[in-house]
Amino acid sequence: MTEPLHEREPARVLLANQPTRGHWLRYGADLGPRFWIKRDDHTGSELMGNKVRKLEYLMAEAQAQQATHVITCGGEQSNHARATAFAAAQLGMQSVLILRTDDPAQPPAPAANILLDRLVGAEIVWISRAAWRDRNRLLAEQADKLRAAGARPYIVPEGGSNALGSWGYMRAMRELVSDLATIASPAEPATIVYACGSGGTGAGLVLAAKLWKLHERGIRVTGVNVCDDRPYFVNAIGAICAEADARWQLGANVTADDIDIADGHVGLGYAKSRTEELVTIRDVARADGIVLDPVYTGKAFHGLVTELRKNPRRFGSTVAFLHTGGMFGLFSSPETIAQVL
Ligand SMILES: Cc1ncc(COP(=O)(O)O)c(C=O)c1O
Repeated sequence: MTEPLHEREPARVLLANQPTRGHWLRYGADLGPRFWIKRDDHTGSELMGNKVRKLEYLMAEAQAQQATHVITCGGEQSNHARATAFAAAQLGMQSVLILRTDDPAQPPAPAANILLDRLVGAEIVWISRAAWRDRNRLLAEQADKLRAAGARPYIVPEGGSNALGSWGYMRAMRELVSDLATIASPAEPATIVYACGSGGTGAGLVLAAKLWKLHERGIRVTGVNVCDDRPYFVNAIGAICAEADARWQLGANVTADDIDIADGHVGLGYAKSRTEELVTIRDVARADGIVLDPVYTGKAFHGLVTELRKNPRRFGSTVAFLHTGGMFGLFSSPETIAQVL
């Protein structure tokens, strides 16, 4: 799978273990479709999850610009920020992370992803939820500061979610197509289901699905949003796809009809868990020995199960759930998951 994806595929640097493997699940045998899972949580260890695939392209651009520093932003337990900090260290660059927290004067304890950020030597700039609205300006200001000090900064957008990062999930789609060819017969409709947090993963999958006309082969793609709502993500994913189309003249012409989001599963809000979501995480661990995280994959998987309880045919006869990682998030508040153990 090292051959080019497309004649205009941008340069990438190898960071992820890929192709990732997949396997059937025992969980959910009573829910209707067969459940298969793609283990993008195995793209690495410190660099695990979906962010690594996007970073292959983003960090290649940073290297081409001879960047000395990468700057990015996220929530306090951002998997993306942690992955970016490790990718930077692996490629010999420094990292600056702008992280959102309740009270920047009292930053959170160094646990889970924050512990790893600190371990790898990332500089952390804590900002309030109010300041988060200005994150793009703050990223630019950090870059100016570094430039003034003689460094060469490269800004990685929130979630690694822009047109360049979306190539990571176009590439993953090529793996998924060959995975599905071995697990589902061409006549069986299959749906790839993923957790949607900033839209970059979805954009890559949707772009590739449109380019390669996968609906003609019965392959559909559905995101379960873990924050915001369906209109927000139809817009966000549509914008990334349009940017990619314009920049590399892909001719995909993604429209709102190509973007399926199963809304209604955000629950108590971003990074807040309901007991039933935690129970699903526990039950998947016990049935299959797989760890889903409470913020993204556990919430999305619980949303998938809830959709299937309403309509077992919603996703066709095979569901391919994309495990996008996030395990470190489980350790940020162990008492939460401990409630259901
Ligand atoms: C573990 C995990 N899964 C899914 C997502 C969502 O991916 P995206 O931001 O590309 O929508 C993220 C990050 O936001 C994540 O950390």
